[in-house]
Amino acid sequence: MKYWIFNDSNPQKVITLFKDVFTASEGENEGQIISDFVTNLIKTTQPQDLIILTAEEQDNVIGSLCFSRFTVPGKQVAFILSPVAIASHYQGQGIGQKLIQYGLDHLRSKNVSLAFTYGDPSYYSKIGFEQINESIVKAPCPLSMPEGWLAQSLNGQKIQPMSGNTQCVEALNDPSLW
Ligand SMILES: CC(C)(COP(=O)(O)OP(=O)(O)OC[C@H]1O[C@@H](n2cnc3c(N)ncnc32)[C@H](O)[C@@H]1OP(=O)(O)O)[C@@H](O)C(=O)NCCC(=O)NCCS
Repeated sequence: MKYWIFNDSNPQKVITLFKDVFTASEGENEGQIISDFVTNLIKTTQPQDLIILTAEEQDNVIGSLCFSRFTVPGKQVAFILSPVAIASHYQGQGIGQKLIQYGLDHLRSKNVSLAFTYGDPSYYSKIGFEQINESIVKAPCPLSMPEGWLAQSLNGQKIQPMSGNTQCVEALNDPSLW
């Protein structure tokens, strides 16, 4: 298994993976929503604000995730992880955790100091994310599942309360995704 920063000019393999994985796990409608979201994310986000990673085996993309820039009050640089998908037949083998860890190490190497995500705390706590209250860092949209608002420091310093609003990239700034 190889873990890469994806820099192919044709993102179709990645989009197809997201569509297939979410269709299998949550149904056709969700598969379409996630594939539209990833397409939009790739189309509308500046290259310096988007990092896509893939797990590949024999030239096949079997896992992928996206980190996009997340602007917080103050000077710290932050990215947010969304979405993540591992091909159905490869799930439960640790690939998701390894791919996310690879992404977090890459962010650290770029002096990114905070990572956020929005999802199942029981999964993301395996790779260092902790629940964060909106009194510490606000989410960019109203949260339908506040317990899924998660963050981790990448520089060893405790996350301090930040007053003021945060901003995600345009494609993620859609209340229906939150
Ligand atoms: C969620 C997902 C990315 C995890 O990747 P993975 O490679 O299968 O997971 P790993 O093998 O690294 O981790 C396995 C562990 O996570 C747990 N886990 C897997 N999927 C989970 C989920 N959706 N929710 C909670 N826990 C989950 C497993 O129970 C297992 O726990 P254990 O080690 O205590 O037995 C993958 O299953 C997937 O693509 N699912 C469908 C799409 C999705 O839900 N994406 C996440 C939201 S963006």
